[in-house]
Amino acid sequence: MAQGPRVIAALDVGNQRVLALIAELSESDEMVIRGVGLAPASGMRSGQVVQMKPVAAAIKAAAEEAELMAKLPAEKVIASVAGIFVSGRLTRAAISMGAREREVTMADLETLHDALRRQPLPAGHTVLNVLSPSYALDDQDGLLDPQGMVGRQLAVDAYVLACQESPVRTLEKAINEAGLEVEEFLFAPVAAANATLTADERRLGAILIDIGYGTTSYAAYSGDKLLASGCFPIGGNKINDDLVHRFQTTAAGAEKAKREAGTMLLGDVGEEETIAVPTIEGRGSHVISRRELCKTIRLRMQETFELIAAEVWRQIPQDAPCTGVVLSGGGAHLEGLAALAEEVFVKRARLGELEGVPDATHLLASSELPARSPAVGVGLLVQGRSLLLPSVVPLVRERRRREGLWTRISRKVLAKRGGGS
Ligand SMILES: Nc1ncnc2c1ncn2[C@@H]1O[C@H](COP(=O)(O)OP(=O)(O)OP(=O)(O)O)[C@@H](O)[C@H]1O
Ligand SMILES: [Mg+2]
Repeated sequence: MAQGPRVIAALDVGNQRVLALIAELSESDEMVIRGVGLAPASGMRSGQVVQMKPVAAAIKAAAEEAELMAKLPAEKVIASVAGIFVSGRLTRAAISMGAREREVTMADLETLHDALRRQPLPAGHTVLNVLSPSYALDDQDGLLDPQGMVGRQLAVDAYVLACQESPVRTLEKAINEAGLEVEEFLFAPVAAANATLTADERRLGAILIDIGYGTTSYAAYSGDKLLASGCFPIGGNKINDDLVHRFQTTAAGAEKAKREAGTMLLGDVGEEETIAVPTIEGRGSHVISRRELCKTIRLRMQETFELIAAEVWRQIPQDAPCTGVVLSGGGAHLEGLAALAEEVFVKRARLGELEGVPDATHLLASSELPARSPAVGVGLLVQGRSLLLPSVVPLVRERRRREGLWTRISRKVLAKRGGGS
């Protein structure tokens, strides 16, 4: 049967760059990336919009470039969120289906998910994503889809991500100002995991770490479930700051030195090796020890991994298997970083490849992005694809989600003022 193009648009508003991707689902439901748009981001800090106009302009520029290349419109986007204002935890909700046994319906699942979303949250917080739901009906648990089964008490265990409302509302407003609507927000490391983790890694346990410019975020999976996640306001930019202070050089000089001479493999760097970096006022250059440069970078990355490891081991159950670490984001390109991750986590570590998106590497390779930077954007497309396709597990979305967070909040505010319907 003939049908119109099935288009998915993704928007990863990073602290350094905005990436817009447009993909189309083929007849065989394969995702084909048609358009890539990239714009430098200014006005973002640690995942928050700190200046609306430049962010909206960057989003518009990236989206228009992607649309032009794809010759397809990007009206509704799946957008990333990352920042210390997002946090998650395993949560349980239960409902009674009445005095007599009966079949579970989709309406019951929606009521159950509404109950899950109504769990007490700190003031000013809202639910961002409900992930890895697993159901229990009376004394049967671990159910993927209880619809059609018979029972009285229905419960769900899920990883619920909550966020402060205002930073997400402001980001949605910037996206709206760029002429786009948000279909759904997704926590960035969860998106990166969508793009890079294999099915075996999700089952046997893996920690995805996305290292960006202003943030480093993580998502840990085991037994096919998300069990831990979080975000630190530390990224490639922090390394550059360290280098600027330590070696009295410029930010651009620090970035260049990090990329060209930085390695985590200290054994490969001779004591006597030196490099020239610009002086802080940028007029001359001075010579520094390459080994000291690498030690400074290594210290920051080691500390970041240790922070993440402590959080992951605190959050995940002790008996949950975990086999390895996968690194994504532009910051993952530091030479020898996987070896450092292996040392800190005492697990195998690898760099994330973009799994399951056949042409992603080819199309993205022609853009100026470092190869691991688009993991979040591609993972947002994967999420968009799962929203379009019939799913084996029930897709229970927030009943009012279609309105968009910002519209909903404006409606709430108007209603409070007595002006809304
Ligand atoms: N070869 C490299 N070696 C080391 N770091 C690199 C390399 N290439 C890029 N980076 C770093 O990657 C970072 C940018 O990563 P990315 O493109 O994922 O950023 P972003 O998504 O805009 O940031 P965030 O995720 O914090 O919002 C920069 O800090 C840059 O220094
Ligand atoms: Mg990023």
